[in-house]
Amino acid sequence: MKKIAVLTSGSDAPGMNAAIRAVVRRGIFSGLEVYGVRNGFRGLVEGDLISMDLGSVGDIIHRGGTILQNDYCENFQTVEVQKKALRQLKEVGIEGLIVIGGNGAIKGAEMLSIQGYPTVCIPGTIDNDVPGTDYTIGFDTAVNTAVEAIDKIRNTASSHDRTYVIEVMGRHAGDIALWTGIGVGAESLIIPEAEYDIEDIIARIKHGYKRGKTHSIIVVAEGVRKGIGTEMGKMIQEKTGFDTKVTILGHLQRGGAPSAYDRMISSQMGAKAVDLLNEDKKGVMVGVQNGQLIYRPLEELMEDQHVINLEIYHLARSLSI
Ligand code: F6P
Repeated sequence: MKKIAVLTSGSDAPGMNAAIRAVVRRGIFSGLEVYGVRNGFRGLVEGDLISMDLGSVGDIIHRGGTILQNDYCENFQTVEVQKKALRQLKEVGIEGLIVIGGNGAIKGAEMLSIQGYPTVCIPGTIDNDVPGTDYTIGFDTAVNTAVEAIDKIRNTASSHDRTYVIEVMGRHAGDIALWTGIGVGAESLIIPEAEYDIEDIIARIKHGYKRGKTHSIIVVAEGVRKGIGTEMGKMIQEKTGFDTKVTILGHLQRGGAPSAYDRMISSQMGAKAVDLLNEDKKGVMVGVQNGQLIYRPLEELMEDQHVINLEIYHLARSLSI
C-alpha cells in the first residue's frame, strides 16, 4: 500500500482533528502518502481530495470540529454513487480509506467494503452509540461540557430554589445523559433505554425540598422523544407548583477543545487504523473494549446494537435519594 485517504462523515465531534492528525502522521511515518477527503462521502464522490503533509495537521490536536468538514451524503446508498467514489480513489491511486464518524459513516464505509475496497473505520460521535466499542471519539468532551454548563446553572437553581430540567444530546442513546447525570448529581435521569415514572420523579423532587435542598436538577436525553425537555418542565411545574425552568444545551455540547482523554484515544485509534490498513486488515472498525484497542469486522457491527450500561443508571438512582 502506497497511498491512503481519510475522511470524516456525519456529525463532527471533538477529537476528530486529533484522529486526522494521527492518521496523517502515522501514515507518513510508515512511508505512505496520505490524502484528506473534504466534505465526507459527498466530497469523495466529487473527488475533493487534498494531499496532506506533516504541516497540514499541525496545530489542530486541540481544535474541535473537523478540518476536513463533514457531510451526511444521503445518496451514498446507491451502488452507482459508490462506484463513482471508488473511481475517484482509483484515479489518484489511493488504495485504502479511513472513515471517521458515527453509525451513518460506518454504514457508508461498509458499502465500500462490500464493493471490495479496503476500508477501516474509527468511531467518532459525541453520542457514544456505536456498537462494537465501549467508546466513541468526542463523548468525554461532550459530557464534560454538559457537566460544566449544568454546574453553572446550578448556581442559579440554588439561589432561587428552582427545579431545572436540562435536555442533553443523544439522538437515540442516553449515554451523555447518564454520565452527565452522575457528574452533576441529578435528582432524576430520563433516558430512552429505561422506563420512567413521572410520579416517582415528582416524589423525588418534593422529598429533596422537604429535607432542605435548594434546587433540583433533572437530566433528560433528547433521544426519549422530540420536545421531551419542555414537556417534562411543564409537567413538573404543574404537578409541584415549584418554579421550574428548562434548558436545552444543544450544539454547545458538540464543540470546544477535546479533552485530554479524547486527544489520547483519537491518537491511538488514528494510528491503529493506519496500522490495520498496512497489515491488510480491512473492512474493520477500531474500537476500545475493557480499556484495550480492538478491531471488529464491519459486517458484524451492522447486526449489532449499542448497549448502554444500565448499572450506571441504577447507581444514579441510588445516589440521588
Ligand atoms: O449524533 C450527534 C448529534 O449531536 C446528536 O446528539 C444529535 O441528535 C444530532 O447529532 C444533531 O444533528 P444535527 O447537528 O444535524 O442537527
